[in-house]
Amino acid sequence: MTQGRVLEVAGLAVVYQSNREPQRAVENCDISVGAGEFVSIIGPSGCGKSTLLSVVAGLLEATRGRVSILGSEVRGPRPEVGMVFQRPTLLPWMNVIENVLIPVRALGRNVEAHRQQAQDLLKLVGLGTHARHYPHELSGGMQQRVGLARALIHDPGLLLMDEPFAALDAMTRERMSLELQDIWMARRKTVLFITHSIPEAVFLSDRIAVMTPSPGRIEREIAIDLPRPRRVETLASPAFAALCGEIRETFNALAGEHA
Ligand SMILES: Nc1ncnc2c1ncn2[C@@H]1O[C@H](COP(=O)(O)OP(=O)(O)O)[C@@H](O)[C@H]1O
Ligand SMILES: [Mg+2]
Repeated sequence: MTQGRVLEVAGLAVVYQSNREPQRAVENCDISVGAGEFVSIIGPSGCGKSTLLSVVAGLLEATRGRVSILGSEVRGPRPEVGMVFQRPTLLPWMNVIENVLIPVRALGRNVEAHRQQAQDLLKLVGLGTHARHYPHELSGGMQQRVGLARALIHDPGLLLMDEPFAALDAMTRERMSLELQDIWMARRKTVLFITHSIPEAVFLSDRIAVMTPSPGRIEREIAIDLPRPRRVETLASPAFAALCGEIRETFNALAGEHA
């Protein structure tokens, strides 16, 4: 393992076997993420982004290739990993704090010992006064924040996020990006983030990996050297616009090559 690499994906291929044609979802995919890095993956719909993330999360088996986290091969879900899905997937019969505590229970750890941490995380995501609310009493953005707190409760080093803000309105989405950056800076997590919003990827990332259309692989990586912390004003800066333009060109060129 390269020193400081939290995640290494090498030569990954995933073929879905169904009763129709086998579906090659990911092929020849390589990516690595260093400690504390924020890396985004962008790619067209259906190119295999969720498939890649599911393999990294240990929820889906690779057909070929190697995925390792902190130097050891992924064979199933791991406690070093937290996952945020596109939909919040909260359990409707549990209140907010109990939802946040789900990974603690699943890992067989002491729930009572984590209650204060759950409360602190809810405060961090702006829901300090909502611990006893039920999911149906929250807006979509609030539910997604609960999902984020839940992904952080067992203090994972690696946070995987699959289009976590896709279902939110534009204003909420922008605010969530700012909050995520603050959390990432405060807690020094390593993040692998999937989005199909180019500005969102540029705003958040140290590096952006662009995937080809299906079967997807990482074709190009672009470093984002905008100073941090990035602020709302960053979105209006010429440097930001230039990076968005560069990524968009790359994205379109890859889509064209494979059309
Ligand atoms: N469980 C599955 N069985 C068969 N094919 C699947 C399954 N999940 C995804 N696929 C196919 O694999 C490809 C990649 O899907 P996915 O990883 O969800 O893409 P993305 O997240 O980039 O939109 C798509 O063609 C999709 O139809
Ligand atoms: Mg997806």
